[in-house]
Amino acid sequence: MFSNRFVLSFSLLLCLPIVFFLVAPRVFPPPPSDSLIPISDEIDDQSLFRRAAAASSTLSRLSSGNPKPNLKIAFLFLTNSDLHFAPIWDRFFSGQSRSLFNVYVHADPSVIINRPGNGSVFENAFISSAKRTARASPTLISATRRLLATALIDDPANSYFAVLSQYCIPLHSFRYVYHSLFESSTFDKSDPDQTPKGIRVWYRSFIEIISEEPRLWKRYIARGRYVMMPEIPFEKFRVGSQFFVMTRRHALLTIKDRTLWRKFKLPCYRADECYPEEHYFPTLLNMKDPGGTTGYTLTRVNWTGTVKGHPYTYKPKEVSPELIQQLRRSNHSSSYLFARKFTPSCLKPLLAIVDSVILRD
Ligand SMILES: *[C@@H]1O[C@H](CO)[C@@H](O)[C@H](O)[C@H]1NC(C)=O
Ligand SMILES: *[C@@H]1O[C@H](CO)[C@@H](O)[C@H](O)[C@H]1NC(C)=O
Ligand SMILES: *[C@@H]1O[C@H](CO)[C@@H](O)[C@H](O)[C@H]1NC(C)=O
Repeated sequence: MFSNRFVLSFSLLLCLPIVFFLVAPRVFPPPPSDSLIPISDEIDDQSLFRRAAAASSTLSRLSSGNPKPNLKIAFLFLTNSDLHFAPIWDRFFSGQSRSLFNVYVHADPSVIINRPGNGSVFENAFISSAKRTARASPTLISATRRLLATALIDDPANSYFAVLSQYCIPLHSFRYVYHSLFESSTFDKSDPDQTPKGIRVWYRSFIEIISEEPRLWKRYIARGRYVMMPEIPFEKFRVGSQFFVMTRRHALLTIKDRTLWRKFKLPCYRADECYPEEHYFPTLLNMKDPGGTTGYTLTRVNWTGTVKGHPYTYKPKEVSPELIQQLRRSNHSSSYLFARKFTPSCLKPLLAIVDSVILRD
């Protein structure tokens, strides 16, 4: 008798979520179209991000008190095709100590990719948590957050996180990049304090954060007029580059975020006004720590004559020492460190000048 009653109330309890599930769609109208993020991916990600947050907080406790930990740059490659410029990057990393950097690749698993082998830095760099990505969709935010989380867990020495794509090339040697990020007191022209200070104690993220953009309002309302409220008022909404160099503190803040993600993962009514990957990171950092960011990017991109949201893509005959010099020139720092986009066929002319021009500072 007792067990029967128990079973009855237990099954009633079990029914509750099912009833809610059936009724809920009528109470809360569904989003404009199906979310592109499968719920199983979302669950995997939340567990990865929780592990990264937990690992990072224990590690920062352990390492506090250590006056000069070794500092590494985590190079995070986001790709949905072959890594066309792997040979250029292998030259870039060649001869550098593994105590100064790590490499991680998020490759869309639905695409067949030739993985560089034979001693390439990319050989064992493909992360296992990678999932399907689609252009101009929140899947690119998820992929970037997976890279950040994986690098946070993998190595407590990862201090700067540089997000790059398969169309990116370096514009300087590794030494130059490392020195610019960790040691130089003059590299960042926007640094309010330019006095040499030896070992830097305060690092900022290099991420473009723009508020004056003619299409900003259209992008803001792309999911519906009031959808972003109350968490993200229009005054806080920003645009910037999908490719950035972020500090560890900000990487942690980014993988811990759930509030903004809940909004940015919603599908847009119009794909051509969406580009969540260009809005999520600048908006998040602008809201959480504007003083901790430079507001500009270290990845040169040419938006002149943009077509369908794609920047200008350089072709083999345009590759020259002069182009590299021109791409380095920045109004905000001593130099740009990376550039995009180049067609895959640029590999040959780029390899021809990699040692004599690109890696020569
Ligand atoms: C690795 O090197 C071997 C011998 O040089 C070559 O046959 C093979 O194709 C290379 N594999 C890759 C993935 O480059
Ligand atoms: C940017 O792209 C335009 C073509 O849209 C080209 O004419 C121009 O030379 C490029 N600028 C640089 C700095 O390469
Ligand atoms: C630097 O600023 C000048 C003047 O505003 C502008 O014409 C130029 O395009 C800028 N260069 C870059 C690389 O953004």
